[in-house]
Amino acid sequence: MEVRFRDSRIDRTKTDLLVLPVREKRVDAPEIAALDRRLKGHLRAQIDRSKFTGAEGSALLYPTGGMLPANQILLVGMGSASENALDSWRKAGARARKEAAAHGAEEIAVFFSPERDSDVAAAALVEGALLAGYQFNKYRSNSKAADQLKSFTLFRPGVKTAAPLLRSLHQAQTVSAGVFLARDLVNEPHCRGRGLSTEVWNKKKIEAMKLAGLLAVNRGSHEEPRFIKIRYQPARRPKKKIALIGKGITFDSGGLSLKPSKSMETMKLDMAGGAAVIATMSCLPKLDLDVEVTGYVPTTDNLPGHNAQKPGDVIRYLNGKTIEVLNTDAEGRLILADALALAAEQKPDSMINLATLTGACVVALGPRVGGLFSNHQPLADALLRCANDTGEKLWQLPLVKEYKDMIKSSIADIKNIGGAHAGAITAALILQEFVGDLPWAHLDIAGPAFAESENSLGPKGGTGFGVRTLVKFLTSL
Ligand code: BES
Ligand code: MN
Ligand code: ZN
Repeated sequence: MEVRFRDSRIDRTKTDLLVLPVREKRVDAPEIAALDRRLKGHLRAQIDRSKFTGAEGSALLYPTGGMLPANQILLVGMGSASENALDSWRKAGARARKEAAAHGAEEIAVFFSPERDSDVAAAALVEGALLAGYQFNKYRSNSKAADQLKSFTLFRPGVKTAAPLLRSLHQAQTVSAGVFLARDLVNEPHCRGRGLSTEVWNKKKIEAMKLAGLLAVNRGSHEEPRFIKIRYQPARRPKKKIALIGKGITFDSGGLSLKPSKSMETMKLDMAGGAAVIATMSCLPKLDLDVEVTGYVPTTDNLPGHNAQKPGDVIRYLNGKTIEVLNTDAEGRLILADALALAAEQKPDSMINLATLTGACVVALGPRVGGLFSNHQPLADALLRCANDTGEKLWQLPLVKEYKDMIKSSIADIKNIGGAHAGAITAALILQEFVGDLPWAHLDIAGPAFAESENSLGPKGGTGFGVRTLVKFLTSL
């Protein structure tokens, strides 16, 4: 899909699908009136008949019957201005693309008003259209392209493609490619990796580095573990040093504490945190940021093989701490502990980990919202701001220190499971044991990493959740 800009008047724009974003109760906007004059009042009549008011999620399609150079007009409801503005642009772009697909349009032209709409809004619009075009067809014998869309044009009279606009656009295109990489990595079945031009440690190296949690979880597996380390070093002196850590369980059966079959169905998703880290790293060279970023992804499957770790085992970590494993299905924290301890040795300015860590977080926040935990409120605030901008929903949950009682072990420093309640919090408290005093944030993305059904920005499957927020965060430093 090619993105273009055109200096054009609304009633003279020739295209398959002319898209007009409409704010709630603004159906009397001058651009609609201009079209309506050429359509001899029929558009207005159709608006009244269908009670289209511009509410978010609503749309009205009007075939022009040859009365305008554009074949069809699509009014897209943007909701009220008080709603998340950037996200409504994103959804409008996605909606335009879906309507184009449904009506076989090859080109979309979106009217973009110079007074109202900013460059970042334009980029959000394009981003939504790009994200909505994702498909994963590798394993279909009869796959069809999502649509016939060839070009996506933003037009307005006197449009100027100035540098800030091109920059935001470049960012949207780069980050969408990153999101697709994360979605592909999640949607691929377990163990079919993609060649990565990074440092990939094998079992021998992992042993030498004393990554005891990863080795313990890997014991039940037939495949060796890997530890992926990716570094981005900017050309200029870095302003900040950031560590990103992602859980890379390629399949989570639960291990000897085996999951029921239903809970296992989607467990190829359990490397979504790792995928988000890898995908975020893939965006950095293209964005030329002045931040040094190191990505750490411990990866293995979690299986109940003959040599598998057993409830009651104790793991001794490289920072001296010990964990008693009472449930082998609480494996994410075991491998993240290694990676956090290792990353902490480099003393980064902040550490951010992403993990499909707990079902409890899905119970608390549902499938659309990730849990955010942090020992450093400015970092948490920055991430919440970025998440709000990208429309990826995060909600902060507390690190309740009184709940540390729940992870006390009778023989080791801590145990790997808490009690019946607050499972997302006790998991976060276990991770916190491995970050020292460094600013750290933990994103529990067990809910939003995987869409159980299609949504506005993508199909069922891996969502690439976290990539856009992380890229935004790194860009904003
Ligand atoms: N990978 C799962 C968490 C998960 C659940 C991710 C649902 C996505 C959707 C994790 O390893 C796990 O099994 N957690 C256990 C922890 C428990 C044994 C303390 C859980 O949430 O049940
Ligand atoms: Mn598990
Ligand atoms: Zn898991």
